[in-house]
Amino acid sequence: MNHSILVAGGTGDLGNKIIQSLLQKKAPVIAVVRHKSDKAKVEALVKMGVRVVSMETYNLADLTQACQGVTCVVSALAGLRDTIVDAQSVLLDAAVAAGVPRFIPSDFSTDFTQLPEGENRNFDLRKAFHEKLEHAPIASTSIMNGAFANILAYNTPFYNLKENSIGYWGNNPDFAVDFTTKNNVAEFTAAAALDVTAPKILRIASFQISPNELVAMASALKKTTFRLISMGSLEGLSAYNKKARAENPKGEHELYPKWQGSQYMHSMFSAQNNPLDNSRYPNINWTSAYDFLPHI
Ligand SMILES: NC(=O)c1ccc[n+]([C@@H]2O[C@H](COP(=O)([O-])OP(=O)(O)OC[C@H]3O[C@@H](n4cnc5c(N)ncnc54)[C@H](OP(=O)(O)O)[C@@H]3O)[C@@H](O)[C@H]2O)c1
Repeated sequence: MNHSILVAGGTGDLGNKIIQSLLQKKAPVIAVVRHKSDKAKVEALVKMGVRVVSMETYNLADLTQACQGVTCVVSALAGLRDTIVDAQSVLLDAAVAAGVPRFIPSDFSTDFTQLPEGENRNFDLRKAFHEKLEHAPIASTSIMNGAFANILAYNTPFYNLKENSIGYWGNNPDFAVDFTTKNNVAEFTAAAALDVTAPKILRIASFQISPNELVAMASALKKTTFRLISMGSLEGLSAYNKKARAENPKGEHELYPKWQGSQYMHSMFSAQNNPLDNSRYPNINWTSAYDFLPHI
């Protein structure tokens, strides 16, 4: 073993941050990229000291070669079925063929193991990949981080800075929703990649905040009154999402169509990370809501 960590998706946003965190921990990193990957991003990886392996498309032979001696494969791929199920499966097969002990799939989401199939298309793709992962002779660790905190800047119904409103679904405005900054996800994932005892699921959140808490915090921060709005039941949102998806089939070919954002709202109010594994690795400075919200 050369104790390298192989990262797939290193030209992406989260993948690059995971690589930076691994390098800070002095871990040797191999990044697999595609010939068509952005040249500047690949060049930046080389400058960071990463060993870059480039291939036309993901294939078993090249990936198995790249996985030799690797102690953990981290996938930070983003995409639809051809990526999350197909390309990730080739990566998994290669990791198994090369005898890699651990695989971290590109989950980085709300804990979809708490959610039924059919409510969130992007999570259903993860579930389809997990069917394969479950049966593969390799240990795995999923990082469940709730929503990336930066979605709070997108004026979703949950936190709408144009309307000064906080919307929630279900009947509990004290239900705390999980948010994690990309930097915290990356730091934690790097630590998990180097942890030979990491369990099957690790649940984290930089902060958990309820609609009621967000109303109070946003009103104080922005020095104006935010309104709390009940958006209806989760059953109603589920029915709305199914209708919106059926009426917008083009979205099946997009990673984040509008109805997927709405499906994410449903997931955020349907699952919660409890208990949190935040304290598993020391030296991670978890960003609080007080630290994060003033920047958006
Ligand atoms: N919880 C949340 O709120 C939240 C929000 C956003 C993202 N995420 C998740 O975080 C993870 C990383 O997302 P990101 O936003 O960092 O992604 P990103 O910036 O779009 O990067 C995607 C990466 O995947 C690679 N890739 C895509 N399709 C591929 C394929 N078919 N074969 C090989 N490589 C492929 C890309 O490589 P090229 O450079 O070669 O194209 C790129 O490196 C994903 O699981 C995503 O769903 C979670």
